[in-house]
Amino acid sequence: MVSTKTFDVKDITFAAAGKQKIEWAAREMPVLELIRARFAKEKPLKGIRVSGCLHITSETGNLALTLQAGGADLVLCASNPLSTQDEVAAALVEYGIPTYAIKGEDDKTYYKHIIAALDHAPQMTIDDGADLVTQLHTKRSDLIQNVIGGSEETTTGVIRLRSMEKDKALKYPIIAVNDATTKHFFDNRYGTGQSTLDGITRATNILWAGKKVVIAGYGWCGRGAAMRAKGMGSQIIVTEVDPLKALEAVMDGYQVMPMTEAAMIGDIFITVTGDINVIDKAHLAVMKDGVILANSGHFNVEINIPALAEMAKSKCTIRPFVDEYTLGNGHQIFILGEGRLINLAAAEGHPASVMDMSFANQSLCLEYLIKNKGSLKARVYPVPDDIDKEIARLKLKSMGVEIDTLTPEQTKYLASWEQGT
Ligand SMILES: NC(=O)c1ccc[n+]([C@@H]2O[C@H](COP(=O)([O-])OP(=O)(O)OC[C@H]3O[C@@H](n4cnc5c(N)ncnc54)[C@H](O)[C@@H]3O)[C@@H](O)[C@H]2O)c1
Repeated sequence: MVSTKTFDVKDITFAAAGKQKIEWAAREMPVLELIRARFAKEKPLKGIRVSGCLHITSETGNLALTLQAGGADLVLCASNPLSTQDEVAAALVEYGIPTYAIKGEDDKTYYKHIIAALDHAPQMTIDDGADLVTQLHTKRSDLIQNVIGGSEETTTGVIRLRSMEKDKALKYPIIAVNDATTKHFFDNRYGTGQSTLDGITRATNILWAGKKVVIAGYGWCGRGAAMRAKGMGSQIIVTEVDPLKALEAVMDGYQVMPMTEAAMIGDIFITVTGDINVIDKAHLAVMKDGVILANSGHFNVEINIPALAEMAKSKCTIRPFVDEYTLGNGHQIFILGEGRLINLAAAEGHPASVMDMSFANQSLCLEYLIKNKGSLKARVYPVPDDIDKEIARLKLKSMGVEIDTLTPEQTKYLASWEQGT
């Protein structure tokens, strides 16, 4: 059954503002623009039904228009209840892309929107966090036979998909866009780093200088957040479970300690682990009065908010995206954006310039899946190296940066083993 092409957005009259936002982001997305121009000529996705579960932002608007230019018959839904930009959702509908996404939608509506996107009977899926793929495999498995392949945007989604592959539950090939170098080196590090601080700043207007900022998880996102908070004058404390990442954080000049210790001294806490209950009841109990807690990992499970709600004698929303919990000991704990990824809840997500590369990967990977239809197994595949390198080359070119090329002598030297000192 193919979708009846309805939509569900907050207010369709927001479309003009959404188009302006999409156009503004496009200025910083030159690589995607090049791909869009080629797609418009070659139509590599002609007539292919694509369902995308993505953060509905102005950058995603540009990805959607690129896929549409390539001939895709696209339907979109939100990949997080709080990340939708309502103007962009309205604009996408006006551009002829049925979109199901409303900022602040409850969990029931969120899943209803995913099912609406699946009603499109996709031949390809694009996911950010693997909720669409999970719903397809569990609730609408009747549709899987249509699917040629899919792509996944984020670390948490790739982890879930690898578990599905291991359990032999995955039924079609999916490319792990997150694992492309031109994705996580830049998007997760510089994108999350900057936009997480942006979200916290917009929600609270706090001064970063002099604050003790605890970063839970020193992966790609954690490195970015730590680097940027340090640049704003904060003292950084890192918590980790991986000895290599912890060692890296120490050598990068940060204090490293268990969360039980960090909980007692931090002013601001940022979780970016992809893990559950990283800030748990015992940590919440020993925190100072007035601490600010934010999450930038994919799901809202990193801070144990249900435990905090139980511990609190009162709760109120004192500013948009700021919930104040008052504990029995009189201490107040502020949770930002309901523990959902703060850069998208309280700010605009990653700047367009990094999404340019992430979404160039998405576009080229969908094209690759079509070209290789039938030859890929139901596995999680890496982004082909030539796609990754080509995106880096185009990005450098767009920035006006030139690099050297190996001479024939250097090529020979690097391939040989005989020559020493
Ligand atoms: N906010 C955004 O826009 C955005 C962008 C990209 C990725 N993400 C999400 O952010 C999360 C992190 O992504 P990443 O690419 O940095 O992953 P990563 O695997 O590079 O890093 C995660 C780190 O967390 C550590 N960790 C796990 N459990 C921990 C615990 N209990 N305490 C302390 N550290 C712990 C791991 O050892 C690892 O070093 C994922 O959920 C990902 O999907 C969000």
